[in-house]
Amino acid sequence: MQHLPPKKLLAVAIVLSLLGFGAYTLFPAQPPMEPVRILFEGKAGNVLFDHQIHAENYGLDCASCHHNLEYGDDTFSCLACHEKDSDDPFMLSYMDALHDQCIQCHEDEQAGPVDCAACHNR
Ligand code: HEC
Ligand code: HEC
Ligand code: HEC
Ligand code: HEC
Repeated sequence: MQHLPPKKLLAVAIVLSLLGFGAYTLFPAQPPMEPVRILFEGKAGNVLFDHQIHAENYGLDCASCHHNLEYGDDTFSCLACHEKDSDDPFMLSYMDALHDQCIQCHEDEQAGPVDCAACHNR
């Protein structure tokens, strides 16, 4: 994520889409609403992430989460860069990357779960 607050990102996304620059036109090769849901399985309890609802109903731009799109890298897997057992101090591990991003936005938006059990409930 860039350091724009999500509300600003949303405003930027709206302006861009009014101008006709949707994520669709920027990244036409990707079917935009896939995957529909992602089940993260792990020791702390599984987490169900409603990917399509986040992208569609909450009006979030792809790059607000897939932040690497901003610098022209078009992989959609966080794992490609944020490795599970990363000990690189300059690169968040997979768990930390997801925790930081999910929880930060929920706090900023005052919407969505921030407690362990509210996410790890599957
Ligand atoms: C907004 C949702 C969310 C909240 C809140 C959250 N988590 Fe997670 N957590 C995830 C996701 C997504 C993953 C990444 C998938 C994975 O590794 O299983 C994860 C991964 C983990 C993992 C690694 C699991 C593994 O087997 O690798 C642990 C441990 C964990 N969380 C503990 C916690 C604790 C403790 C809290 C509360 C302090 C918490 N989580 C809060 C979503 C959340
Ligand atoms: C709220 C955050 C968020 C938004 C918004 C979002 N995504 Fe994702 N997306 C994720 C996360 C988290 C994953 C899981 C990545 C992982 O596990 O490495 C994912 C996975 C994907 C995958 C599968 C990648 C793989 O290797 O399995 C694709 C494709 C994808 N997203 C495309 C998109 C597109 C296109 C958009 C915009 C229309 C979008 N996403 C919007 C968070 C988001
Ligand atoms: C192509 C490589 C790459 C991919 C893919 C990638 N990241 Fe990152 N990520 C980075 C790098 C490099 C940094 C550190 C520099 C920076 O902040 O951009 C970073 C930083 C972060 C940070 C720290 C806060 C910030 O914005 O600086 C978070 C949180 C994060 N990534 C989450 C994610 C999540 C979640 C995904 C998948 C939806 C993801 N990243 C996909 C390379 C990647
Ligand atoms: C850029 C902002 C943003 C990011 C990043 C984000 N969320 Fe959310 N999330 C929201 C918003 C907004 C809601 C809506 C809450 C409402 O309407 O009450 C929400 C709601 C939720 C909910 C409850 C409703 C539902 O859709 O199931 C869950 C669970 C959830 N998020 C999990 C996650 C997980 C797991 C991640 C990280 C993989 C994540 N979120 C990343 C913004 C975000």
